[in-house]
Amino acid sequence: MIERKSLRRASPLFLVLGLGFLFAAYNFFSVIGHNRASITMNGSDGDDPIIKNWESLRFHVAVTATDSPYSKWQCRIMYYWYKRVKDMPGSEMGKFTRILHSGSPDNLIEEIPTFVVDPLPEGLDRGYIVLNRPWAFVQWLESATIEEEYILMAEPDHIFVRPLPNLAHETRPAGYPFFYIKPAEHEKIIRKFFPKEKGPVTNIDPIGNSPVIINKSLLEEIAPTWMNVSLRMKDDPETDKAFGWVLEMYAYAIASALHGVQHTLRKDFMLQPPWDLEVGKNFIIHYTYGCDYNLKGELTYGKIGGWRFDKRSYLSGPPPKNLSLPPPGVPESVVRLVKMVNEATANIPDWDSTRNSG
Ligand SMILES: *[C@@H]1O[C@H](CO)[C@@H](O)[C@H](O)[C@H]1NC(C)=O
Ligand SMILES: *[C@@H]1O[C@H](CO)[C@@H](O)[C@H](O)[C@H]1NC(C)=O
Ligand SMILES: *[C@@H]1O[C@H](CO)[C@@H](O)[C@H](O)[C@H]1NC(C)=O
Ligand SMILES: *[C@@H]1O[C@H](CO)[C@@H](O)[C@H](O)[C@H]1NC(C)=O
Repeated sequence: MIERKSLRRASPLFLVLGLGFLFAAYNFFSVIGHNRASITMNGSDGDDPIIKNWESLRFHVAVTATDSPYSKWQCRIMYYWYKRVKDMPGSEMGKFTRILHSGSPDNLIEEIPTFVVDPLPEGLDRGYIVLNRPWAFVQWLESATIEEEYILMAEPDHIFVRPLPNLAHETRPAGYPFFYIKPAEHEKIIRKFFPKEKGPVTNIDPIGNSPVIINKSLLEEIAPTWMNVSLRMKDDPETDKAFGWVLEMYAYAIASALHGVQHTLRKDFMLQPPWDLEVGKNFIIHYTYGCDYNLKGELTYGKIGGWRFDKRSYLSGPPPKNLSLPPPGVPESVVRLVKMVNEATANIPDWDSTRNSG
């Protein structure tokens, strides 16, 4: 096992002090002070100190989450499918951690390996909660004992459809190309954060931080920069307006390019119903888009049809068990998604209990 403490370089405190243009450092000291004592839940740490059959390609699955009901039910489904596929042939999946950035443990820590970190200081996220992600990764990488040499950054609305191999190489992480991340079309804004001497903006990959599989030591370099860049972008009205809800994805893409890191773009990393019609040989279903169909099986996107599955229908509590399957004619990817949600909710103990809310 690699004892992280001895390898530690700068503490996040130092890195974060570089962000002083945004808030009083005083604020952060108090936050970090209380954090260190209470940070470790049982979970990724400690349960298996001696590593047998070390496989150097194993990657740790890390999902950033909050304690909201909406985040909880998605994490439970995600963890269920992680356990289902983890030991199948072809998998190089290692342990799992839910990095909970709500600052205190919740009622899922017995069910899902969890590491509690602090949210950004009050007000700093300006209502854009995903700005907490880079800060969550900075804290986790600094404080947790992570056996694997690689990390998968995942999100609660990911479902593993197949055992996932390590798609990354030592110095070349793997990411998913998002069609709407287009650095070249935003050169003027990007240059505020990616100076000319760093190279052409085409060095910036069309990705976000998730899904990405990356060498842990590279992520340790990139994460503080990612946090820095995302806060500076949020602080710049022009950038905030141009990038909106994908700001934090651009921030990761820029931060990794600032470190000279480029990603192998893997279209098969993920599929996004309803736009991708078949699961095929892809690895992860990302159910971020609503799936609305009429009873003839025709997509009615943006309009509630006769049948729908949309995670946003369940903001304050979990979907019920045994959702109705879509009408005939709906793409296989959507049918598969609903079946996988149903399998998980049928098998996760106490699905209807307060675990999903409380
Ligand atoms: C964050 O950005 C500021 C302003 O560019 C810089 O001075 C500081 O060194 C950066 N810190 C890190 C950790 O990148
Ligand atoms: C956490 O510890 C409790 C008590 O030791 C144990 O029952 C539970 O399974 C553990 N949870 C995880 C996720 O390891
Ligand atoms: C990760 O990258 C570092 C340098 O960037 C390299 O020294 C190390 O060997 C790599 N680790 C693995 C497991 O490939
Ligand atoms: C699920 O719902 C269908 C109707 O949509 C019903 O026929 C089936 O029996 C239900 N299954 C379970 C396990 O409740």
